[in-house]
Amino acid sequence: MTEKLLSDFFLGPLNLKNRVVMAPMTRARATADHIPTPIMAEYYGSRASCGLLISEGIAPAPAGAGYARMPGIWNQEQLDGWKSVTQAVHEKGGKIAAQIMHSGRVGHTKNMPQGAEVLGPSATTAPGEMYTDEAGPQPYPEAREMTHGEVEEAISAYVSAAENAVAAGFDAIELHGANGYLIEQFLAPVTNHRQDQWGGDFKKRARFVLQIATACAAAIGPEKVGIRLSPLGVFNGIEPWESLADDYIWLAEELGKLNLVYLHLVDHSSMGAPSVPSDLKQAMRASFQGAFILSGGYDAEHAEKALQEDQGELVAFGRPLIANPDLVERIAQGAAWNEPDFDTFYTPGPKGYNDYPLLSTGA
Ligand SMILES: Cc1cc2nc3c(=O)[nH]c(=O)nc-3n(C[C@H](O)[C@H](O)[C@H](O)COP(=O)(O)O)c2cc1C
Repeated sequence: MTEKLLSDFFLGPLNLKNRVVMAPMTRARATADHIPTPIMAEYYGSRASCGLLISEGIAPAPAGAGYARMPGIWNQEQLDGWKSVTQAVHEKGGKIAAQIMHSGRVGHTKNMPQGAEVLGPSATTAPGEMYTDEAGPQPYPEAREMTHGEVEEAISAYVSAAENAVAAGFDAIELHGANGYLIEQFLAPVTNHRQDQWGGDFKKRARFVLQIATACAAAIGPEKVGIRLSPLGVFNGIEPWESLADDYIWLAEELGKLNLVYLHLVDHSSMGAPSVPSDLKQAMRASFQGAFILSGGYDAEHAEKALQEDQGELVAFGRPLIANPDLVERIAQGAAWNEPDFDTFYTPGPKGYNDYPLLSTGA
């Protein structure tokens, strides 16, 4: 039974035809210049049966484009590319949100436009290596600490990105506040050592995200702004801190006061990260006024159960949607799911991208 999962839902003004959300997933199929490609329109268009698609992380500015072939949304060519994507989704009756992701310290200049620098709240270095097309995996460079002016520029870049996303036909935006990228780098003490108004206690570390959310909501309407957060996340060198649970509950409440349309909670325990206790999830949900999106390791049965138990309003699926463009049809029919091919998650070109079999073609 997947009755609730397949039932419609009003996300602010958007009438979603079901509660299946495509989780944001970087697939590195844009050009080296961070321009969306035609195969991306086909990819998103073929998944339009989901109630809501959330795009891969999209850089708001050159300094935020730290990954190879990560798309951006700061120039006209990029906007034109995105218009083809949103049109392909809308033609099939779908809805799509743009995930705005500034990579911050998790980037390499070899992947970024000429002249862009790897920046962070403080001069810290992400652990491990970053893949580059030019020279393969490279150690992360140390981020340069952003000046006060650069922090303000970054906030403006999120706002321009939100406006550009609406101009390109996106139905909403999602601020990427999770997984160790710039917003979470401001939130976490391990990456934010600042002593000015952008660092110090949690209220100060959260000033960056709250100013972004406030300004984006003012620019495009709070009913078009969602946010993704990953409390207890350890990805990209983030480390939990003692008052984390209370801090995130407070943050959810502050974001709720801005009337944002949804809060998208990351729980990557299915990928080996610490699990997020259900009481923390529910406390954040209770503090936030908008819709709550669950994510991480769901199959149809667990998603239905979570919705029936009223743990959230919507459930996001990641890897299953890489391998099953027609996931909603498969859920409705109780059909088997294809397995994703990890080797082609981030490789250029259509292989492992637009070639997964559909039920209708006899998978
Ligand atoms: C290939 C790949 C790329 C991802 N890229 C992003 C991203 O750009 N932004 C983001 O918030 N999460 C990203 N994630 C995390 C997913 O949104 C999701 O939280 C994760 O895959 C767990 O859900 P699942 O178990 O349904 O796959 C990515 C995951 C995968 C597998």
